Amino acid sequence: MDRQVIQAIKQRLNIVDVVRRYVALRPGGGRQMGFCPFHQEKTASFSVNETEGFFYCFGCGVGGDVIDFYQRINGLEFKDALEQLASEAGVDIGDFRPDPEYDARQRLKKSCLEMHTAAQEYYRSNLNLAAGDASRAYLRRRGMNDGIVSAFGLGASSDDWQGLANFLKGRGFESDEAVRAGLLSQKEGGGRAYDRFRGRLIFPIQNLSGQVIAFGGRVLTDGEPKYLNSSDTPIYKKGEHLYGLFQARQAMTRSKRAILTEGYMDVLSLHQFGYVDACGVLGTALTQDQVKRVAGFCSRMVLVFDGDGAGRKAALRSAEMILQYGVSCSVVRLPDGEDVDSLLQTRGKEGFDVCLDDAVDGLDYCFSVVRDGFAPREIVAWANGFLAHLADNSLRPFYIPRLAQGLGLAEADLRRFGAGQGRLDAGTTNRAPSGQARGRDKRRDAPRAPAVGSEERDDRYFLRLPIQYPEYVPELAKRGFEALLTTDFGRELWRKLAQAGVDDVLPDLSQEEKSFWADTRSKDKPEGDDLTQEWLHVCRRIENAGVRRSREDLMDQIRAATSRGDAEEVKRLMAALTDLNAPSREEE
Ligand code: CTP
Ligand code: MN
Repeated sequence: MDRQVIQAIKQRLNIVDVVRRYVALRPGGGRQMGFCPFHQEKTASFSVNETEGFFYCFGCGVGGDVIDFYQRINGLEFKDALEQLASEAGVDIGDFRPDPEYDARQRLKKSCLEMHTAAQEYYRSNLNLAAGDASRAYLRRRGMNDGIVSAFGLGASSDDWQGLANFLKGRGFESDEAVRAGLLSQKEGGGRAYDRFRGRLIFPIQNLSGQVIAFGGRVLTDGEPKYLNSSDTPIYKKGEHLYGLFQARQAMTRSKRAILTEGYMDVLSLHQFGYVDACGVLGTALTQDQVKRVAGFCSRMVLVFDGDGAGRKAALRSAEMILQYGVSCSVVRLPDGEDVDSLLQTRGKEGFDVCLDDAVDGLDYCFSVVRDGFAPREIVAWANGFLAHLADNSLRPFYIPRLAQGLGLAEADLRRFGAGQGRLDAGTTNRAPSGQARGRDKRRDAPRAPAVGSEERDDRYFLRLPIQYPEYVPELAKRGFEALLTTDFGRELWRKLAQAGVDDVLPDLSQEEKSFWADTRSKDKPEGDDLTQEWLHVCRRIENAGVRRSREDLMDQIRAATSRGDAEEVKRLMAALTDLNAPSREEE
């Protein structure tokens, strides 16, 4: 199903048009080139191949199709990227999905969004009425200017239990729908629905398209809780979004930096003082979803958490997660008892700039926390855990020497520790929910050999031909191309190539495979005589690999026959082996 949607989107959306919204491109070498939005660089190594519909960065190796790009740059889940691009391209996903619940779900989401838009309008207008007196006074006391209040759409909820309820009713929304949207509450077992947010300063939470999807509300008296947030709804899940990311995203792509902080007021103060690449993690510990989402906009995250014990612990866990995702990070240590907001308000921009300059490198920060507070065996476990949860095994060579150096461990010991496939999938989630793909996912949990070594290099070498010339795939398959491949990576990629034939294979590939595929497609293809030579060479190697395999089989059988004491059989097998080893068939 998804496949058809993907193809329909690709037919209608030009990858260059989509990329251009985020990256300035210039033609060069038969493709479009620009600065990679996914890592920091001084020369343009990001390429977009318009005719073939893929992008590839020669610097950091990310690659994929228009959906991968959109997903990555906006930090979206695959399904969400697909949905948004489909609606942009005028592709009706419903046409491809004979799923009766799909329409119902979409209708529910749509009405949730509409109710949030209405609620936002209500809260905002309250701010300038008597119902907003306390909120206005509070904002003034906290030093927030009008520009910030309007850029973040702040509002106020009245003390009234039926204020929003009546407003929504007036707009024609059913109260049970408003309860499901998290805007109204209802006592268990029924009863009249009432306003969830009362007497609070209201912070709307927006998604990346700027739509309001949830609210946070701060008490203005000494009531409890200090902050009340929307619960999970069809359009909002705690831990997936960041406060102010919508306002900060463009500044982030320019500065390549994201300042991450804890509180609503902290974000507002940062923006007011000119740190417009700041956003907030919304009351929970930073989550992997959030890391993914922000990583689409920056290559460096700056953590600004409170100076207390809880803040330090949150910083360790957050730094770990960011580093494991392959994004660099630094940690700002605030003076004891201060948060960003209080620091900015008392010491101004100069005061915070000093803290920014003093920020420690994220990895060093982890080391110091781990070294100071952990027992030796905990240090070793931490290092192994860190490596096991890397988003991508290709980060291992980067981190192993640094971990060894920073924690006083042996590189060899770290290397020996099984390279688990990352907990975070740096790129797309798997899109092909076929039986085989699911089988592959299961295998992921098993430790996998690190992606290094000459075997994988050989496999990558052989796979160039079928990747550059998909029209040869059927013939290569017939000749037993698979016998050439010795690594999981190679065999898995070949399986997908063979399955796709001349069709679009990209949607089936993992991030690592996409990167290799795009790299290979970006290189010059052999033509004419070179191509003939290449073809003959590969065919010869297939034949030899076949012979080698038969030889190994025979050796196995000989060993078995010998231990059985079956002399006749041994003799017969030896003869067969001698035939196989005949000089005319010897490998080059
Ligand atoms: N938070 C929350 N629920 C609470 C307390 C806090 O969701 N009951 C979240 C809010 O996003 C809040 C952040 O955690 O902004 C930090 O909390 P805290 O440090 O207690 O508040 P401040 O942001 O400093 O709030 P203020 O400056 O308004 O007192
Ligand atoms: Mn505060």
